[in-house]
Amino acid sequence: NMTRKVIIDCDPGIDDAVALCMALFDTRINVAAVTAVAGNVPADQSSRNVQAIIERIDPPRYPRLGAASDPELSPGSNASYMHGEDGLGNAGIVVSRLHHQHPSEKIICDEVRSDPNRVTLLCLGPLTNVARAFQRDPELPTLIDRIVMMGGCVNGMGNVTPAAEWNMHYDPDSARLVFRSPVAKTLVPLDVTRAIHFTMGFLDELPSEETRVGAFLRKILQFRYLAYHQRLGQESIHLHDAVALLAVLQPDHFAFEEMAGDVETRGELTAGATIFDRRRNRQWRPNMEVAMTVDAEAVERDIVQCLSHAGRANG
Ligand code: RIB
Ligand code: CA
Repeated sequence: NMTRKVIIDCDPGIDDAVALCMALFDTRINVAAVTAVAGNVPADQSSRNVQAIIERIDPPRYPRLGAASDPELSPGSNASYMHGEDGLGNAGIVVSRLHHQHPSEKIICDEVRSDPNRVTLLCLGPLTNVARAFQRDPELPTLIDRIVMMGGCVNGMGNVTPAAEWNMHYDPDSARLVFRSPVAKTLVPLDVTRAIHFTMGFLDELPSEETRVGAFLRKILQFRYLAYHQRLGQESIHLHDAVALLAVLQPDHFAFEEMAGDVETRGELTAGATIFDRRRNRQWRPNMEVAMTVDAEAVERDIVQCLSHAGRANG
């Protein structure tokens, strides 16, 4: 069928949750699996949050779920100030009972193997699971149609450190392994995901409280508005992962550049930094396309429309 098969690897996380609300009701894609990865929250909490979100919004088709396990060298830093202790704005979204789930990397391998060259892997968190999937099945990079990753930054301003963006910084070794793999890659960096500012007016455009999606989003987003106000002195928020999903749903809202990228894995100040060879006499081989500019108004409008559709479909 014409809908594109997608696996979403994520670390919910409030902006991951918004992207899931959009993707699971969008008829342009078939979300065959949602695989949890440690990042915003530790692995077990991430697995619980994935299941809790899906149970709460009750999409028409339930995706297969993958369980996260913490990377060997998971850093101490955590994002509770940005996502709440539970990763979902301390909104009290809990699973009834955590179903037995296969490891995320196994789900990724199985789903890609069952539809060679037809799966888009959308990564909204650290690349731990993708690296493990490639180690588990070395042929996998040649069997995935495309990997679209939210992460990194091109013009050098990180978020978790001055040099690095959160997803890449959390597991830089996995990020480097994926960047150096032969699979077709698209990177959606902070440079473009920061261009969309969701003001308080965005809350008014959400589906109504009566819908599952509307009630859920209002609960988790208020934490983010408060965190941006208190921690960053900003009255609008970013939703990096929702913008990255739009790069899959509506790529024409972005301009992409073929680039040669890599990840710093040992820097004292620069660990997790994404580095690009942009010299005129470039030595590195181009290995990905990077979203460099975006039509911010169009993307914001489409995110609102996507969520409105989810609310109508969700009753
Ligand atoms: O740097 C932003 C990214 O880190 C987003 O994916 C957010 O959810 C966090 O994982
Ligand atoms: Ca994320």
